Amino acid sequence: MFDSIAIVGATGAVGTLIRQMLEERNFPYEKITFLASERSAGTKITFKGEDHTVELLRPEAFEGIDLAIGSTPDPVAAEFCPWAVERNCIVVDESGYWRMDPKVPLVVPEINPDAALNHQGIIASPNCSTTQMVLAMKPLHDAGIIRRVIVSTYQATSGAGVQGQEDLVAGSRAFLENEDYKYQVFAHPIAFNLIPQIGSAKHEGYTSEEMKMVFETQKIFGDDSIQVCPTCVRVPVENCHSESILVETEKKITAAEARELFAATPGIKVIDNLAAGEYPMPADCSGDDAVFIGRIREDLSCDNGLAFWCVSDNLRKGAATNAVQIAELLVRSQAAV
Ligand SMILES: NC(=O)c1ccc[n+]([C@@H]2O[C@H](COP(=O)([O-])OP(=O)(O)OC[C@H]3O[C@@H](n4cnc5c(N)ncnc54)[C@H](OP(=O)(O)O)[C@@H]3O)[C@@H](O)[C@H]2O)c1
Repeated sequence: MFDSIAIVGATGAVGTLIRQMLEERNFPYEKITFLASERSAGTKITFKGEDHTVELLRPEAFEGIDLAIGSTPDPVAAEFCPWAVERNCIVVDESGYWRMDPKVPLVVPEINPDAALNHQGIIASPNCSTTQMVLAMKPLHDAGIIRRVIVSTYQATSGAGVQGQEDLVAGSRAFLENEDYKYQVFAHPIAFNLIPQIGSAKHEGYTSEEMKMVFETQKIFGDDSIQVCPTCVRVPVENCHSESILVETEKKITAAEARELFAATPGIKVIDNLAAGEYPMPADCSGDDAVFIGRIREDLSCDNGLAFWCVSDNLRKGAATNAVQIAELLVRSQAAV
């Protein structure tokens, strides 16, 4: 058990879920500290029925803390993680800053749990759109070796944090009332629209979000030969990312086999009855830790292709749940020593 833990970015969209998750999963600790910027420092958070004051994130905040779970913007994580590590505090970090650092394991506990134990102070949790995709890929990769993935995402506004959630609601209201609204985080109106750009222009016409899906997938599976071609799109959905995924495997996997493989995988739930109109939808999957899969079918255009639809709560398995599962792995490894 870690005696003293901290949640960094405790007031954010992911931080709020991390708090909820620690409570739901009865995560063990003696003392808990909540850290955020000067905007929230001094405000109160109620956790397990008790009021806690949010403290300012600064180097000294990590004195005596054994484990921190961080969900802050990248530049903030770049700065605070070394502060923590210098003070012997292990960090499970949600931001994108450390994920591709060769010294930092990038972990989805259902796929590469052992990597988490091989850390040098920082363990990264993947991007939300990557996590649900790799979890869905895992049983297919084990059964037939995935060579290529074509994925289009339909990403919820909560993926852009608290302000993204506010933008959807306020922007929709303004649209319906024919009023102007100045978006806080989106470069274009998201209400009654969709935006085929998430992140910045990064590499040969692909965005930073798309390249995360390429590189993080290869790192998690430890296989640079897996080819990923992503298109990431922001849609006017409040929570839960959806993905249309097509995988090409070395060995043929039929739709029936895939359905069985998915159903037997911990963390995956299958809802797949097209004739009855049953498939995963974001509105139904919010608040659940699972990765949902439906519309499983064989590709009509290539021999070993398999297409499916994948939905998951980006704030849960895409972020908070995965981070807390990593922290639980660390607790279990301590207990095993
Ligand atoms: N949203 C998702 O679905 C998702 C999924 C996976 C990973 N992530 C990653 O998780 C991180 C947090 O995302 P989010 O959606 O939770 O964003 P968010 O709602 O905007 O929350 C950001 C958090 O970081 C804190 N923060 C910002 N600047 C800070 C500073 N200078 N010093 C200390 N704390 C600071 C904020 O505190 P204040 O209240 O003081 O502003 C807030 O608690 C990002 O790196 C994001 O890429 C997000």
